[in-house]
Amino acid sequence: MDIFEAIDTRHTTRVYTNKKPTVDEVKRIINSARLAPSAVNSQNWKFIAVLSDDVKNRLADEILKKYDEFEKTMPSHLYDKIKGFKGHSTFFTKAPLLIVCVQTYAPKFLEGILEEFGMTEEEILDIRPDSQLLSMGGAVENMSLACHALGYSSCWMVAPVIAQEGMRRILNLKKPDQIVSLLAIGEEQTETKRSAKKDLDEVMEIIE
Ligand SMILES: Cc1cc2nc3c(=O)[nH]c(=O)nc-3n(C[C@H](O)[C@H](O)[C@H](O)COP(=O)(O)O)c2cc1C
Repeated sequence: MDIFEAIDTRHTTRVYTNKKPTVDEVKRIINSARLAPSAVNSQNWKFIAVLSDDVKNRLADEILKKYDEFEKTMPSHLYDKIKGFKGHSTFFTKAPLLIVCVQTYAPKFLEGILEEFGMTEEEILDIRPDSQLLSMGGAVENMSLACHALGYSSCWMVAPVIAQEGMRRILNLKKPDQIVSLLAIGEEQTETKRSAKKDLDEVMEIIE
């Protein structure tokens, strides 16, 4: 599959067959993250491939526990607004492969100097977007395209990160390690249509 075909046909899938990627395929997918660009080439990342159903279920339990905790402690008008995310947080238990994307540390480069100079966090973020997180985005997208090229589909997930602390415990991670995304991966069970995209003219401007 050439790169444009991969980009044109990739789409999110949340229901998978039982086909498990081989260890070689897992390595190939994670290698595509390893080769992604990163700010100052910092490569502040680690990718944990979870094939174990037991570990996937324990991660999902932590997420459900977190929602239960919010349900009990949050005013209902606020909980009502977040409970929709619950359904989109744990289907990865049925994905044959789950890749947990961990930002291992976030060193301050330019932002540290601007902070010392006295600028506020808001002012700094305006001129220095979170480059570590942007780098991770590139790595996750590389994996999503690699999965697609290998005949698997995936779903990039951030909603589960709500259970950051519990998931960190299960995966033996310690701060400053931060789970920033999960990638659920598997063979698509039934063909899924890609979500509608905005027209090119709507998102593009060419200045000649
Ligand atoms: C950063 C990011 C976070 C996402 N988080 C979730 C999530 O937590 N749960 C989920 O089911 N889908 C999640 N998605 C998938 C999006 O809903 C999906 O990419 C979007 O609807 C566009 O569909 P497409 O990927 O088929 O183009 C996420 C996607 C991205 C890029």
